[in-house]
Amino acid sequence: MRQIIAGNWKMYGQLGGVTAYAEAIRTAPDHVDLLICPPFTLLDRFSTALKGSAIALGAQDCHGAAQGAHTGDIAAPMLAEAGASHVIVGHSERRENHGETNADVRAKAVAALAAGLTPIVCVGETEAQRDAGEAEHVVRTQLTHSLPENFAGVVAYEPVWAIGTGRPPTEAEVAAMHTTIRAALVAQLGGGGEKINILYGGSVKPGNAASLLALPEVGGALVGGASLKPEDLLAIAAAAPRG
Ligand code: PGA
Repeated sequence: MRQIIAGNWKMYGQLGGVTAYAEAIRTAPDHVDLLICPPFTLLDRFSTALKGSAIALGAQDCHGAAQGAHTGDIAAPMLAEAGASHVIVGHSERRENHGETNADVRAKAVAALAAGLTPIVCVGETEAQRDAGEAEHVVRTQLTHSLPENFAGVVAYEPVWAIGTGRPPTEAEVAAMHTTIRAALVAQLGGGGEKINILYGGSVKPGNAASLLALPEVGGALVGGASLKPEDLLAIAAAAPRG
């Protein structure tokens, strides 16, 4: 399975920086699928700047409806029109800051699929949940209720306590959770569950990418902070195993 290296810019970035960044990442190695998820306002500019490259473009959220009276929200077909092929849904920052439930995330994944976008559904436990021994149960519950029946997309495991902290889990913890997620996906989706890339996210940096991406259970990375520097994202992509 080809690995996916996805950059999540979060609420960073300006129009003026897009062209230089896009030029820099055009040199990315071609043994991985590279994806950039900038803020909505940069999608169209990125789409132009990445034309002719194999680098894909994603958004960071979408609404569960195709259109409607939802001030401040954005619909999946709008993202597709702006050049996105992917959309992150259910990131823990949205679950926490916007009270998004698993049902909301599921509706967003359905809307993304209906618009022809590949959803990247994020799951992950908090530190308190891990300390209480509930991590696997929490993640399994998120998968059960966040993924639609016909789900064909990407899953990202991002332990909340590892995001932006510089403190990723151990390789053994990542491997164990990814094994749990794979089993849950197969139980839920049958053979389709075998084909889903399971990304790891949370403090992935050039210095730890090789060991995390070498784990056979890991199908790529969702990279926050380090994706803002093209050289760091390129180093992470280069660290992914070939074939
Ligand atoms: P981080 O963020 O790489 O800055 O920890 C990952 C994410 O939230 O997707």
